[in-house]
Amino acid sequence: MEAGYCNRKKTDGICESVCDSEFGSKSVLSMSRLKCALRGFDLRVLLILLIGVPILIFAIYVHGQKVTYFLRPIWEKPPKPFTILPHYYHENVSMGNLCKLHGWKVRETPRRVFDAVLFSNELDILDIRWHELSPYVSEFVLLESNSTFTGIKKDLHFKENRQRFGFAESRLTYGMIGGRFVKGENPFVEESYQRVALDQLIKIAGITDDDLLIMSDVDEIPSGHTIDLLRWCDDVPEILHLQLRNYLYSFQFLLDDKSWRASVHRYRAGKTRYAHFRQTDDLLADSGWHCSFCFRYINDFIFKMKAYSHVDRIRFKYFLNPKRIQHVICEGADLFDMLPEEYTFQEIIAKLGPIPSTFSAVHLPAYLLEQFDRYRLVDLQAGGKKRCSFYGRWWLVRSELRGFCVCEGFVC
Ligand SMILES: *[C@@H]1O[C@H](CO)[C@@H](O)[C@H](O)[C@H]1NC(C)=O
Ligand SMILES: *[C@@H]1O[C@H](CO)[C@@H](O)[C@H](O)[C@H]1NC(C)=O
Repeated sequence: MEAGYCNRKKTDGICESVCDSEFGSKSVLSMSRLKCALRGFDLRVLLILLIGVPILIFAIYVHGQKVTYFLRPIWEKPPKPFTILPHYYHENVSMGNLCKLHGWKVRETPRRVFDAVLFSNELDILDIRWHELSPYVSEFVLLESNSTFTGIKKDLHFKENRQRFGFAESRLTYGMIGGRFVKGENPFVEESYQRVALDQLIKIAGITDDDLLIMSDVDEIPSGHTIDLLRWCDDVPEILHLQLRNYLYSFQFLLDDKSWRASVHRYRAGKTRYAHFRQTDDLLADSGWHCSFCFRYINDFIFKMKAYSHVDRIRFKYFLNPKRIQHVICEGADLFDMLPEEYTFQEIIAKLGPIPSTFSAVHLPAYLLEQFDRYRLVDLQAGGKKRCSFYGRWWLVRSELRGFCVCEGFVC
């Protein structure tokens, strides 16, 4: 038996010598058994390595991002926490009292307000944004480019749909900038190029010292009453970040309240620069909404996934498959199959899996609720052609939700 075992492994030097001494003492024999067993074990290890390592490498290739994100609490310290300023508001409290609650004085006249955005293709969100801010804004400033941040040629969506925004026309400073179309460049370079151009456009719009300037992406919408407060009160901080409720795909999926990039500035000529990074420690609580990837059509999702500065997150082509995208949106899962970007294990684990639906539509942009019919329809018949609308997702009633899921199975 021993010999048979050894014979099976003819190339095995140790085993051969062991087999040669088959008739040696008992202790030698048991030693040799051990060596044979070890040798067999080595081969198994080798086999496991041969099969296992490629699988492991493949798994890391597929899920590497997840591994690094999960270990983030180890390799990255959280940024310095913001100083959160309490935010007081009720529609029936006078401005004088609201300013006083914040420790500020009320002004004789409000400041002028400039709302400046870089526009890509978020027409619906822009409509909601401008209607929300319209009563308080003196000048809308919008810049669009024929290039995405990633250097893909794009249509001038705003220009083509300008008539839809007639209500803002008399207060609009519109600018168009040609893309540079540099191949293989970091998307953040084109992005900052466009922000510098926006800086120029704000000046052309006629901004002067102490006017309020809102710096935010189109989908970061300050609530109207927040801007009203900041324009009416004296002594508000020179720069203030706005804490926004973070939604994904629609106002159905409330992620958290950690959006902070939007900011409001009391303009200082020569000093204020249009930026989208952290510029101060002050953060005004509960100041609006950030609805990421809130689009009507699957094609808009695909466009945004390819166009925005985190294009490296498309690690596999199938991420752009319309059916997959539709499924992900219905589930409230992640478009890029990523783990939550958090700094503690507790928070990462708490956020794993699909986002739970919220059933509150209290304190949403007024225009969204006023245009309820327009924003809720699951529009399956448009021009005789089947198409999907994700407006069903903007609304939160259960039956509406079911209506929306009729959408499943259609490719838009
Ligand atoms: C709020 O103010 C309006 C008009 O000033 C008044 O009609 C209404 O009764 C007030 N509501 C509350 C709850 O005080
Ligand atoms: C982008 O716009 C600029 C300025 O109008 C123009 O010169 C350029 O040809 C355009 N590029 C493309 C690819 O359309």
